[in-house]
Parts: sequence; C-alpha cells; structure tokens
Amino acid sequence: MKINVGIIGFGTVGTGTARILTENRDIIKEKTGLDIELLKVADLDIERDRGISLPSHILTTDAMGDVIGNPDIHVVVELIGGINPAKDFIVKAIQSGKHVVTANKALLATEGAEIFDEARNRGVILGYEASVAGGIPIIKVIREGLVANRILSIYGIINGTSNYILTRMLEEKMDFHDALREAQELGYAEADPTFDIEGIDTAHKLTLLASLSFGIPLSYDHIYTEGISRITAQDIEFAMELGYKIKLLAIAKAVDREVEIRVHPTMIPENYLISKVDGVLNAVYVVGDAVGETLYYGRGAGDMPTGSAVVSDIVDIARKITIGCNVSEDIQFMGKRTDIRVKPMGEVESKYYFRFTAIDRPGVLSKISGVLGRHQISIAAVIQKGRSIGGAVPLVLLTHKARESDVQKAIKEIDTLDVVDGRTMVIRVEGDED
Ligand code: HSE
Repeated sequence: MKINVGIIGFGTVGTGTARILTENRDIIKEKTGLDIELLKVADLDIERDRGISLPSHILTTDAMGDVIGNPDIHVVVELIGGINPAKDFIVKAIQSGKHVVTANKALLATEGAEIFDEARNRGVILGYEASVAGGIPIIKVIREGLVANRILSIYGIINGTSNYILTRMLEEKMDFHDALREAQELGYAEADPTFDIEGIDTAHKLTLLASLSFGIPLSYDHIYTEGISRITAQDIEFAMELGYKIKLLAIAKAVDREVEIRVHPTMIPENYLISKVDGVLNAVYVVGDAVGETLYYGRGAGDMPTGSAVVSDIVDIARKITIGCNVSEDIQFMGKRTDIRVKPMGEVESKYYFRFTAIDRPGVLSKISGVLGRHQISIAAVIQKGRSIGGAVPLVLLTHKARESDVQKAIKEIDTLDVVDGRTMVIRVEGDED
C-alpha cells in the first residue's frame, strides 16, 4: 500500500522532512514494506532555494486546497510552528479525516487539549514525536519502550539554545548575550529567543512529557518556569568549584499522588552523565519503576534530526493505516488522571545555592544565617569569595533541603538587609540526596 503525505511549512524542519522522505524512501520501504510518497509541500514562499530539488508539481502555496483538501493525502504534516494558522490547519485536517504529524510544541502545550479531543473524536492519529527533543525518539520511548513502567521521574536538557549558551559561558567565559547571538546564528533558537532563554520552550516540551508519562492533563499553566537569563559566568564558575554544572532542567517527578513539574536552572553534580551533555545536545533521563534509570541523548533541533522524528511518526501512522488501526493510545491516556495534583511550587523541597552580594565586615554572615534559621533553612556550606574590607563581596551558601516557600520568604527578607547589596541569586540543587 502507498501512503501519501502532504507537508505544510517548507522551513528548516519541512526541508529536512522532505529530504528524508525523498532520499530515504527506498530504505524505509525496504525496512517496513511501506511505500511513503511525498505528494505536496505547501508554503507561502515556494521560490526560495532550500538546497533540495523537488518536482515543481509538488510545491504549492495553497495548503488548504492542495494538502488538507486533497483526497489522495493520508497524512498532513504541520511544520509552520506558532499558534495560528497552524492550529487552524491541524483542526481542519483532523476534521477532514486526515492523520496529523506536528513538531509544534508551543501549540500542543497550550491548546493541545482541544486538538487531542478533536483527534480522539474523529478517530485519527496525531504524532508529535518531533515536538520534544528533536531527533531523540523520547515520545516513542515513553509510549512504547517503557510502557510496562510507572514513570517515576524525568530530568531533561531539552532546549539546545540554553544548553549551548551555558556551555559557551563555561568553556569560553563568554558573556550571555554573545553566546545567545551565536546560538541564533547557528539556527537553534526559536523565532522569539525569549522562549529559549526564559525556559518557555522547555516548559512546552515538559508539558507533553509529563502528560504522556503520568496521564495528567496538559498542565503548561501549572509549570513553574524560570530561565537562564540571570545566570552569570560567576555562578557557573562557583558551581564548578563546588563540583556542580548548571543546566536548564525540565523536571517531572511523581511523589505519592502528586507530581512536581518545573523548569529552572539547576546545579547538578559534575560527575553525573547528564552534566556532560554540552553544546546544543539534548538528553532526557527517565526513571521507571521496572526498568530503573535510563538516559537518551542526541540532537534536539535542526532540519535532519527533527525531520527524522517527523518521518518516524509518518511511518508509525502508515503502519497503523495498513492494519486498520486509527487510535493514538498515548492520546487516550493523556488527561485521564485528573486525580493527580500538580504540586504548587511553594510546596516543593530542594537544596539551594545562594549568592549574596554582601558587605565584607564582621557580623554580616550571622545576620543572613539568622534570617535563614528563622525560616527553617539549614546551611550546608558557606564560602566567601575574595576580600574587600567594607566593600561588597560574593558570599556563596549551600543549604540542606528546604521548602521553596520558606526560601522565597527568607530571600525577600535578606534582600532588604542593609548588609546586602542587590538581588540574591538563587539556584536549586539536585542530586546527591542527603
Ligand atoms: N529552540 C529549540 C532548542 C529548537 O533550542 O532546542 C528545538 O525545539
């Protein structure tokens, strides 16, 4: 049987997907017995040279008419990104009975409930492998490879741009903005880089991972999200001295009948495997109750890695079409567990790194530790960096496990002390459980 595909969006990922579908059509057929043909590629601009030559009858500017309205097309691939008109195209495709593949994490995280409902009701399959961690087949891993498990926790480095920036800041002692510019030039950043550096893109992806893993509804609005824009090269250096790397982590943990879902810069022991994931590379560490610890590593962005994920969804759909199955079992599960509460951030417990800018004179530490003590925060280590009698110096402090709401109250109070200059840097610390 031949399965026909139409792509909407001939950008970076659209081009990679078209290249894989055409150049690897034979190998896919050899491996699966499925003949998948790219019938149409729609984009507003079909003139620009993308470095790939497709027969001119494939290209069209009419996505609605030539792709969604095309009776020969079985699978519509949405790769334009953003909310609108992507949502409109996806919903119309589903309503026309087409199966859909998308890489659109922002859309699914924020409006996915409606789209998944539509897919469930219409009995079509919706593939979204490419929306999380690009080329790493993490959706398939959780949906299929680890289906026998209760997922206990997930820790992900799933935004290449942030990881690239943090790596360059560490290795080259680069300024944050220069590193961001480099990442943008290399084509890793989102159209709006705020999504990358403020943790929003990571939270979009974590929304999907958490729902798929725990069956909870898509909970983007409940995810605590903090990005890397306040991290300084100094924090990265102090972290290294203390034996840690700073990574922007997506964290999802099942705790009793609750889940913690959060995105923030995190200090992790430097000897952990995930700490060694540098540059634009992504990694997802998943712990299941049966399998134990597992780790997945690869390219989280780019035309060919993301195209690889898109095509894997197309092949899965083609397989299902041939056996007459039109159910996305993962989408059936996502949202079922309305009994599981997402723990409010204030109730989360963690260890912390604080960097105060403190006046260098006797009695200052006791004032700060007095406030921490009153808020039940126990100190694990203190380092004063440098000496500036009567001037300001960085005072770095590590805590034992403390409650987030206590930490926020204590830091607010400390930041008003006359012995402290400027805003305290707070970074949560994971690993080496005490
Ligand atoms: N901006 C994303 C990243 C691209 O940097 O990882 C892939 O989602």
